[in-house]
Amino acid sequence: MLRVAEVAGLRREVARWRQAGIRLALVPTMGNLHAGHLALVQAARAQAGRVAVSVFVNPLQFGPSEDFAAYPRTQQRDAELLASAGADLLFAPSVEAMYPRGQAGHTRVEVPGLSEILCGASRPGHFIGVATVVCKLLNLVQPDLALFGEKDYQQLLVIRRMAEDLCLPVEIQGLATVREPDGLAMSSRNAYLLPAERALAAQIYRVLGRSAGRLRAGVPAAEVQAEGLAELSAAGLSPEYLSVRRADDLGSPGPDDRELVVLAAARLGRARLIDNLRVRIDD
Ligand code: PAJ
Repeated sequence: MLRVAEVAGLRREVARWRQAGIRLALVPTMGNLHAGHLALVQAARAQAGRVAVSVFVNPLQFGPSEDFAAYPRTQQRDAELLASAGADLLFAPSVEAMYPRGQAGHTRVEVPGLSEILCGASRPGHFIGVATVVCKLLNLVQPDLALFGEKDYQQLLVIRRMAEDLCLPVEIQGLATVREPDGLAMSSRNAYLLPAERALAAQIYRVLGRSAGRLRAGVPAAEVQAEGLAELSAAGLSPEYLSVRRADDLGSPGPDDRELVVLAAARLGRARLIDNLRVRIDD
């Protein structure tokens, strides 16, 4: 596996592959890799001749009071995991390599509407940071295929919309959430949980499951949301939101919408956890 830290080096390597007509996949990450990330790499491996993975803790998507400095960085371990998962190239740039003129004056990519709701409401600017860095990575690597997790469902839709609006010639693929045995969605931020908090954390998945069941039983979305929020609080989490949305654009569902998603964000100790479940309402 090639390890590249500079933009010029990355361009050189991927240009050789593209000229050889090799199908190329990109998996963007912030590192501290777990089985969720590796599932993306394996899915990429199965569909492309070369797989590039980026590991970059992107300061532009962190708010001033968020965990940019504390975010776990485990470079050597990540490189070993990626090599054994079959990645061909690891791009791990410095902040200076990605933002040579600094972040403040950098061109930004904004997907309006989708970026301001749900997680965007409590993390202003977050999805601008995500869209901007993903757009840069897609332009640098110019992959045929880029893979993202449904775990970050709103992020996946923001990236899809960005790629569509900017006519980026790439297929954006979303992959199912990989979970711990008790249902907790794998996340680098789970490392922030103390043992007692970790024992509670899977409640978010259980509550989402119950909410999905109620929706399928015909309970109105507003009631499902109120009950879900109460259940999260009763379980000892501090919910930020629990919301039933249309799966394709995160709009408020109408009575005829069948493809839904229940999304939740909650604080637990030092961690902010997010999760979601897709729900299909059958007639
Ligand atoms: P990060 O949190 O490292 O996640 C990298 C990719 O792994 C994302 O597409 C995310 O949705 C996916 N992922 C994380 N946990 C997962 C799980 N349990 N199951 C399946 N996929 C999972 O998301 C980011 O980084 C950044 O915002 C990024 C897109 C790299 C832009 O900086």
